[in-house]
Amino acid sequence: YNRRSFIETASLFAAGFYVMPLFSSCKMDTSSAHPNVGTTINSDFNADVDIQLKAVQSSTTILSVKKTDTYSYKGSLITGDKQTLQQLEGSALGPIMRVKKGDKVRIRFENEISEKSIIHWHGLHVSHENDGHPEHVIDKGETYIYEFEVMNRAGTYWFHPHPHGHTGEQVYKGLAGLFIVTDEEEKALNLPTGDYDIPVVIQDKTFDKNNQLVYLPNGRMDQMQGFLGNQILINGKVDNTLSLNKDGKYRLRLLNGSNSRAYKLAWNTGESLTVFGVDGGLLESPKKLPYLLLGPAQRVDVWLDLSKKSENEELRLIHLPIPLDNMMSGGMMGNKSENSMPYNSQFDILNIIIGESRKNDAQLPERLSVSQALDPADAENRNSPRTFNFAMEGMMKWTINGRIYNGMEVAEDEIVKLNTTEVWRINNGGNISTKNQKDGRGMMGNNRGMMGNGSGMGNMMQMPHPVHIHQLQFNIINRNTENVDQNLWNALKDGFIDEGRQDSVYLLPGMYMDLVMRFEDFKGLFLYHCHNLEHEDMGMMRNFKIE
Ligand code: C2O
Ligand code: CU
Ligand code: CU
Repeated sequence: YNRRSFIETASLFAAGFYVMPLFSSCKMDTSSAHPNVGTTINSDFNADVDIQLKAVQSSTTILSVKKTDTYSYKGSLITGDKQTLQQLEGSALGPIMRVKKGDKVRIRFENEISEKSIIHWHGLHVSHENDGHPEHVIDKGETYIYEFEVMNRAGTYWFHPHPHGHTGEQVYKGLAGLFIVTDEEEKALNLPTGDYDIPVVIQDKTFDKNNQLVYLPNGRMDQMQGFLGNQILINGKVDNTLSLNKDGKYRLRLLNGSNSRAYKLAWNTGESLTVFGVDGGLLESPKKLPYLLLGPAQRVDVWLDLSKKSENEELRLIHLPIPLDNMMSGGMMGNKSENSMPYNSQFDILNIIIGESRKNDAQLPERLSVSQALDPADAENRNSPRTFNFAMEGMMKWTINGRIYNGMEVAEDEIVKLNTTEVWRINNGGNISTKNQKDGRGMMGNNRGMMGNGSGMGNMMQMPHPVHIHQLQFNIINRNTENVDQNLWNALKDGFIDEGRQDSVYLLPGMYMDLVMRFEDFKGLFLYHCHNLEHEDMGMMRNFKIE
């Protein structure tokens, strides 16, 4: 698809499906169809924030003197106050954008890399045209104009490319940035701000001896598993130290921006992690966990109070071993351990250096927010959830309900109604073409595959799937673990946060989750997919259509 054929295709749909609601703030308005959405600036849209954002090929000093070839988003502010855009120094990672709920945002995305790209605003409630659908990709030299009102609550959202088949590689090379929203509710809380509000983007990468990024050295075989690196980068840098003030009270905004790796995060001291926000913003009240499972694309706010620490005390955020073998770690299919750290090992994520005392007056209240929970009783299909099975079909195909991504294609069971609430059952159903199907347990049976004690080729291919739904924030109403390997479940069960609004969940093999969500404001096509970016690129991605 190029852009022109997209417009032709779009025009085949009934009028009203592809309408930009820009002019009418948020509701669908069929009278305001914009034929050139994405390509021209709407002069009636009075942007509070207007940013030129270029995707460029660059080279960055990441390791030592010899630079690494990277991709990078470079932002420049056209309208908005100075804090709106913060470009990270010495990092390929894109800028941090800070906006307020209600802001009208225009982004002029200019593609200067020599492949097609498009930007997706992960977690934002925006229209189809502003969502970065893969069919909206633009070529080098072209511009795509986004114009949307920020309708989300305060929270940590992010942006990254979404060209079908190339998302993994483009993100890996550096294309990703944070989109931080604040609102009145949050401002009233006296949470840490400024230097005490710290974004922490966690990614894993592998470099060769010439300091160049290595991506899927064994091609398709590595892609089956998803990229796993041998080194952690924080905010695009290998230096993972954070120098903080004793007595400071901090908000760490963690984003797992890795292509496929999940982390079991804990403090090296054994003290619990205090989490007070998730993908879609603040929890009702803070939650203490012994450790935290952070899957790809997920965000959490972690509270860090250094008043009980002493200067120079050692404090590290670490990854604890997970009994999840890298699928190919046996060397069968590549991704050997020199290229990737085994899940079942411990390594450092952040190294916190505690310096001189400096107090800020922030605090973490017991009550952070009113309930954001959608009521599953409002869902017409609450007794028969719409089910999506994330599974392998045949030997080498990651599918959703047996299908893979196919442009604008949307199937009967992927069409929902505007202004309705639904329950979706997201099922990590393993391998649908193994003998499991015959033994009466169907897709749910014997989900032990890559945990090391499964047997047979089919079971080798069971993997976790980090599932993401575009455009909305759901609530988790049930996490079923009956068919999850007990050893794996026991190692992770205290690390999940099933509260608050979220847009991405991490499903272990055999796990299914029931999510309640509401389709509001925008009709059109939106994606749901595995956020293991290699799985996504292989087609484990589909449209759902709101009509
Ligand atoms: Cu961050 Cu469609 O994804
Ligand atoms: Cu998304
Ligand atoms: Cu997957």
